[in-house]
Amino acid sequence: MLKTFLASMVIAASAFVPAHAQQPIVIKFSHVVAENTPKGQAALKFKELAEKKLPGKVQVQVFPSSQLFGDAKELEALLLGDVQLIAPSLSKFDRYTKKIQVFDLPFLFDDVEAVDRFQASPQGQSLLATMKGKGLLGLAYWHNGMKELSTNKDKLQRPEDVKGLKFRIQSSDVLEAQFRAVGANPQKMAFSEVYQALQTGVVDGQENTWSNIYSQKYHEVQKTIAATNHGVIDYMVVTNAKWWEGLPADVRKGLSEAMAEATRFGNDVANDLNERDRKRIIEAGKAKVVVLSKDDIAAWRKAMEPVWKKFEGEIGKELIQAAQKSNL
Ligand code: LMR
Repeated sequence: MLKTFLASMVIAASAFVPAHAQQPIVIKFSHVVAENTPKGQAALKFKELAEKKLPGKVQVQVFPSSQLFGDAKELEALLLGDVQLIAPSLSKFDRYTKKIQVFDLPFLFDDVEAVDRFQASPQGQSLLATMKGKGLLGLAYWHNGMKELSTNKDKLQRPEDVKGLKFRIQSSDVLEAQFRAVGANPQKMAFSEVYQALQTGVVDGQENTWSNIYSQKYHEVQKTIAATNHGVIDYMVVTNAKWWEGLPADVRKGLSEAMAEATRFGNDVANDLNERDRKRIIEAGKAKVVVLSKDDIAAWRKAMEPVWKKFEGEIGKELIQAAQKSNL
């Protein structure tokens, strides 16, 4: 009787011990992509470095491929404390801040190097803290790469080729406007549902990086992929601000260092992984890969141009100009 009473007291008491007072601190890192992608590799590197720098103090558990939480739930899970790190694509934050929508403006960045320069600029860095009031703290930007378009049609060269087609998009109003600008029908959908939607014809096409297209096998259920490079898919690694600030100072320092190193590592390999997967898609020979001429690209750019004006108010002219300046 006494034993049962004491045991229940221990359980009750431990329920009030903050997570970081327990050793090791368990850090759950949830993401939606495959391990063999830029984000998947950077997350594993972060685990390796954090556990090496803080032996016995932290344990990092990485959950890829929406195993723990998918797009629809991961931000809420972070705020509830069910997970401590996530790295959503920059297109998935518009419920929390309108500023980050800048990254979705079509044809804003010439390449990932330009995106990198903007992220490193004072304006880019300030965006990391822009959701703090909502409980989210950005720790780093991670690269994936430029987006390509794919459809289940034979012809994909000019904007008129996608008229009337249904496209899966990430949950971003800018991306919705982008597809409407070319006369297509966008449909917001979680990443984990895209393959099946393409396979069954629920949607005709999608936009993504080479590494996501290859690792999700979209090239097996699409006929044509056009190398449009019309936008970027990059990530912000975010944590729960309250949890982060409650960590012991030495742990926060070690995790910050591990994050900085994992960021350098991931950003260094991102280009190579996308290039590797572009070649693999061509070698697989299932979808046709179309290279567009300068004239074709100019037509896409022109058709998507109205999107900039539509979101200029929400994003802010100065931020857009700062991003534009990162193109050399
Ligand atoms: C998508 O939802 O298409 C991608 O952004 C997924 C990811 O995290 O790369």
